[in-house]
Amino acid sequence: MADLPTHKLWGGRFAGGPSAILDAVNRSITVDFRLWPFDIQLSRAWARGLVRGGILTADEGARMDAGLAAVADDFVEGAQPLPSDEDVHTMIDRLLHTHVGDVASKLHTGRSRNDQVATATRLWTMDAIQQLELGIRDMQRVLLSHAEQHQEALLPAYTHMQRAQPVTLAHWLMSHFWPLARDRQRLTNAMQTSSVLPLGSGAIAGTAFPVSRALLQEELGFASLSPNSIDAVGDRDFIADTLYALTMTAMHLSRLAEDLILFGTSEFGFVQFGDAFSTGSSMMPQKRNPDALELTRGSAARVFSDLTSMVMTLKGLPSGYNKDLQDDKRALFDAVDVMALVLPAVAGAVDELTFRTDRMRSAVTSVMMATDLADYLVLRGVTFRESHGAVGSLVRQAEDAKLELHELPLSAFKAAHAMFGDDSLDALSAQASVDRRSVPGGTAVSAVREQLAAGRAALAT
Ligand code: ARG
Repeated sequence: MADLPTHKLWGGRFAGGPSAILDAVNRSITVDFRLWPFDIQLSRAWARGLVRGGILTADEGARMDAGLAAVADDFVEGAQPLPSDEDVHTMIDRLLHTHVGDVASKLHTGRSRNDQVATATRLWTMDAIQQLELGIRDMQRVLLSHAEQHQEALLPAYTHMQRAQPVTLAHWLMSHFWPLARDRQRLTNAMQTSSVLPLGSGAIAGTAFPVSRALLQEELGFASLSPNSIDAVGDRDFIADTLYALTMTAMHLSRLAEDLILFGTSEFGFVQFGDAFSTGSSMMPQKRNPDALELTRGSAARVFSDLTSMVMTLKGLPSGYNKDLQDDKRALFDAVDVMALVLPAVAGAVDELTFRTDRMRSAVTSVMMATDLADYLVLRGVTFRESHGAVGSLVRQAEDAKLELHELPLSAFKAAHAMFGDDSLDALSAQASVDRRSVPGGTAVSAVREQLAAGRAALAT
């Protein structure tokens, strides 16, 4: 039906046609094509609204509905845009004419592409949020299941990237689980701001036809109705909210990736990457590179740039719809697309990790229990400041003698402070250090067991 090569939704007031350059810069169908299922869904709801309002006859409404269903089939069968299709709304309108003829021209009664595109984009976003939420959940499940299998293994925890104190591997794994729980909450918030129906706002002032917006809301599954038509056609907060939620998720995955890239170096050797999510080198036969994790780290930059681009687009806009807003979908789709790839890639890469718990354990040196040694004195009535100083002097002696802290003679401990007894060295046990931290949120095995239960509960909601 390519006999309508100049199908346009506007143009009556122009004597001359648009420049080819205007067409090129204005054309958005390469980006917004994917809105088609949602645009058809809202158009069918709108046609029913027009029938209920007495603007279309029941017969016209039925033909419109069948026509829109046929347009959906066209898309499923691979319909492609014509060069003259400015955007997906124009393409759908053109295809609808091919199926039902002139009655198609009644569909646009009382609506504008301004409330239409806002509605379609919201529907698309609500759908995407659901998929992304499942992706984050899968990622959390992988972390949780590793954590359940590694409740006893110990590794160093780092502050300033320096060995600090021993923790269980489960505790470290769960430290990457909870940020993702917060990300899911942020997506839930974005879902709430997305689930507001703009349809019925018309171009800016509200539709002048008696179409029930409440019924549209119900039919399209929105949580509420936009309260102001000017705001409704220019509001892209839901996109910014979604992009912010995704920026945070991308940032969290990037930090996890960074930990793992470091832990996978020969120097650390705490984890070994599997085959399915690693690549080789074209030159160095020995290489097994964590590309999936590196690409994850890189994609956080991209998602953040999508957020800044959306917010920068919005910041100087006057009220209502402005064409700058057409670019909202480029940022939104880019971020959602990259996260839809990255989430399963990290989940896959983490799932196939081998944890070298032997290497982790041997990285836990006795000096990491210096705090526990100071606490030993505190439990004997010494002030923390004084015990900190005494242990500090022992650390220095060990360093000078090129010994581990526990290799110093007991006499050195007793010389450092009179309250050091024969059992001083017991305070340097890594297991004891972990066991002592049984506060909620601490690394003791018992506390982590509670944490794992909370993690399972968080996944169940
Ligand atoms: N393609 C446009 C967009 O994505 C649709 C809305 C056009 N509205 C208009 N008044 N020209 O924003």
